[in-house]
Amino acid sequence: MVKDKEAPENPNLKNNKMFIGIVWNCVPELKLLLSALLFFCSLITLFQFFPSHFSFSVQDLRHCASLPPPPVEIQHRQIKQEDVILQGGVIKRNFNTYGTAAYNFVLMSAYRGGLNTFAVIGLSSKPLHVFAKPTYVCEWAPHNGTGNITVPGVKILPDWGYGRVYTVVVVNCTFPSPVGHDRSGGRLFIHASTSGGGDANFNLTDTIEALEEAPESLNPVQFTSPPKYDYLYCGSSLYGNLSPQRIREWIAYHVKMFGEKSHFVIHDAGGVHPDVMAVLRPWIEKGYVTVQDIREEERFDGYYHNQFLIVNDCLHRYRFMAKWMFFFDVDEFIFVPKKSTLKTVMDSLSEYTQFTIEQRTISNKLCYLDDHPGKIYRKWGIEKLVYRDTVRGIRRDRKYAVQPRNVFATGVHMSENTVGKTTHKTEGKIMYYHYHGTISERREPCRQFVNTTEMKVGGTPYMVDMTMREVAGAVKRFEMRMIGSALLTTRQ
Ligand SMILES: *[C@@H]1O[C@H](CO)[C@@H](O)[C@H](O)[C@H]1NC(C)=O
Ligand SMILES: *[C@@H]1O[C@H](CO)[C@@H](O)[C@H](O)[C@H]1NC(C)=O
Ligand SMILES: *[C@@H]1O[C@H](CO)[C@@H](O)[C@H](O)[C@H]1NC(C)=O
Ligand SMILES: *[C@@H]1O[C@H](CO)[C@@H](O)[C@H](O)[C@H]1NC(C)=O
Ligand SMILES: *[C@@H]1O[C@H](CO)[C@@H](O)[C@H](O)[C@H]1NC(C)=O
Repeated sequence: MVKDKEAPENPNLKNNKMFIGIVWNCVPELKLLLSALLFFCSLITLFQFFPSHFSFSVQDLRHCASLPPPPVEIQHRQIKQEDVILQGGVIKRNFNTYGTAAYNFVLMSAYRGGLNTFAVIGLSSKPLHVFAKPTYVCEWAPHNGTGNITVPGVKILPDWGYGRVYTVVVVNCTFPSPVGHDRSGGRLFIHASTSGGGDANFNLTDTIEALEEAPESLNPVQFTSPPKYDYLYCGSSLYGNLSPQRIREWIAYHVKMFGEKSHFVIHDAGGVHPDVMAVLRPWIEKGYVTVQDIREEERFDGYYHNQFLIVNDCLHRYRFMAKWMFFFDVDEFIFVPKKSTLKTVMDSLSEYTQFTIEQRTISNKLCYLDDHPGKIYRKWGIEKLVYRDTVRGIRRDRKYAVQPRNVFATGVHMSENTVGKTTHKTEGKIMYYHYHGTISERREPCRQFVNTTEMKVGGTPYMVDMTMREVAGAVKRFEMRMIGSALLTTRQ
């Protein structure tokens, strides 16, 4: 997530705008034709509202202009409820429902978390959870067809308060004893009941096949053996026209810092465009990076929840593969002071399940003017952006790391469903440099060149902080050693 204060654009709306823009730029005759087409397409789009394409693009237009419309199912579903007059002349107004409400459950993924426990991750209608108490029952069905076991699912709502239409749900299914541990295979079902939410006249139950385990596929050793990675990075979703050069710096820097036993999971919500992919590819080939395309998720909500959805997916997917998991953004750089290494810091925090990391805010406009101003455009962001905001006493976002085996669900800034201790006392041990907004645009970040050690811009005091600039050379050499000169010509 490249965080900006303003609400992100809804990609569906954006496309719509673009489309309308195209229509109104045409000559009048065409306008009429296209307007008619727009209306026609809108109708079709509406009719097939769920669960197919939500988005509306020029491609849809081409699509619907060339193909006959799919048959529309007409349902004469109910008798209209009229208003009735009650005793005493009170008029009881009746409401008639049409169409579809938000889904009861949208399954993203399900993972085993031990011999008797599973996590099922998805989205669910927010009003349902606000106005009712939907319940979940988990059922393990062995492949041999007998011995089904059911248990109430415990729901965790890690993004409570953020969602609008949907809320993220993690259902924890913990059976009283191991299931499928004989490796005979089976399936995990979730029975999701609305319990009078949505429409108080119904208690609907949807049965969801959350996970299928083939016979012999379970590897129980994974839950107890040492993890494959020391550090795993779970990234938030990337969207927008990201700067390949900034990503290049970020990944080289962090592979160097996190070391050989590390892995980076990048979530592409449209931001991993071909130039960014070109920067990541050498690291993918080296086994350091995995890119997951999560654009499908756009169908179900706007902005904030997908962060919760994907961090929880990432948590459970890699839970037994990493000793530590980090959650921060690609405009943030983790740093540990010279006297230590990441390993010594992490070892000193190993008694904690979770710790938070303080922020150092770097100006995204002020650039350091050195002897070679002409070369500034070729300098790395961490070399030229060296002015640190020194305002005291304001609360800045903290980022965090967890030992995932002790975490059952996680938020964007912190996990609340953990066993074990959390500490915030990491000042001076580990911090992150935040270059807000520098990654989400491709033009040169420098707006003003400065060579003083301190300065004030619009009342905000800044002081020069060369920490990151000083490590840039080593990062460049590391990149060269690891992947050669492939990225030397990377553009902003
Ligand atoms: C579910 O919760 C229990 C206890 O709260 C925990 O021990 C277990 O690990 C959790 N399972 C998953 C898959 O997170
Ligand atoms: C076990 O559960 C599955 C899925 O809910 C169901 O199809 C099957 O009939 C159940 N078997 C028994 C014996 O209840
Ligand atoms: C089916 O599998 C379950 C669990 O593995 C086991 O308890 C049960 O005895 C098996 N039933 C048969 C008929 O094999
Ligand atoms: C709705 O149905 C489910 C499954 O049958 C049940 O567990 C739940 O208690 C019911 N809720 C209400 C409010 O009746
Ligand atoms: C700082 O920059 C100004 C021009 O902006 C220049 O005149 C001055 O010599 C520079 N000072 C140092 C110490 O480089």
